[in-house]
Amino acid sequence: MEKRTVLGRALRATPLAGLLAGCGGAQSALEPAGFEAEQVARLFWAMLIASGIIWTLVLGLAGYAARRRDRPWSQQGASRLIVWAGAVVPTLLLAVLLFYGLRLMPELRAPGGPLRVHVEGEQFWWRVRYHPPGGAAVDSANALVLPVGQRVELSLSTRDVIHSFWVPALGGKMDMIPGRTNRLVLEPTRTGEFRGACAELCGPSHALMAFTVKVVEPAEFEAWLAREAAPAIAGAAEGEGQAAFLAHGCGACHSVRGTAARGVIGPDLTHLADRPTIGAGILENSAANRAAFIARVNEIKPAARMPAYGTLPDTEIAAIAAWLGTLR
Ligand code: CUA
Repeated sequence: MEKRTVLGRALRATPLAGLLAGCGGAQSALEPAGFEAEQVARLFWAMLIASGIIWTLVLGLAGYAARRRDRPWSQQGASRLIVWAGAVVPTLLLAVLLFYGLRLMPELRAPGGPLRVHVEGEQFWWRVRYHPPGGAAVDSANALVLPVGQRVELSLSTRDVIHSFWVPALGGKMDMIPGRTNRLVLEPTRTGEFRGACAELCGPSHALMAFTVKVVEPAEFEAWLAREAAPAIAGAAEGEGQAAFLAHGCGACHSVRGTAARGVIGPDLTHLADRPTIGAGILENSAANRAAFIARVNEIKPAARMPAYGTLPDTEIAAIAAWLGTLR
């Protein structure tokens, strides 16, 4: 038993284990759940298999050449070998792989459907705004919900530094660059919960800048969007938690529609209780984690713009955390 634990620990510590652990799960490009991700995965396997064959052939030929000791090459034979094996064959193989890759691009750049979602990178979270066809815009943050089988056009921007939006299971990554809006189309092919991350170093909490993507049936999506558009239904709306939230100025940065909190600097918290995580994908959305985030955000998320409120009495922090848990 002891031996097995040591072996397990040793295996987990190898780089190979790290590589293998990245091959599955909610954030895997090799377990695609979207049309774009399927194309990327197919391209990856085609490149990997082709490279594997070429690698084996080259090593085989090198081994063969090293063992062959019978006769020297004629000058003509040597030149022919260099031209064919050194130029013609590699050029042909690379051209085939290049054209295979280029052929995928028009499909990946095809226009999206009527639903548009604007995502803006912030240090270090994601501002989300849904633009449903013919309806008013709906604000959210740090969690995306998308309908399965529909092409959704994402417009990606940032006001501070370069971020990169990436949901490996759904599609390729796209940079968010100050002063420009980039476009990414995603078409989820199966329902489920996936994880996205920022893929461009953007500051001390770059690695703590994630988000969740929930892919649901279109009818469920419509119902969710209608709920998301509505003000918060807070069970303890008039209670101690809301009073403390407003009294300590949280509403200057955060919006909770349906209350006096109208801030736009930080993430919209209107339906926070519906989100699986807090702090942009880094902590499970529980009362204890919400309280810890309020009190020690500076430790949990270095360089986040939100100040830590650890000087507040624990009872008030607990009340705010509990109230946030009622925002549906
Ligand atoms: Cu945002 Cu890295």
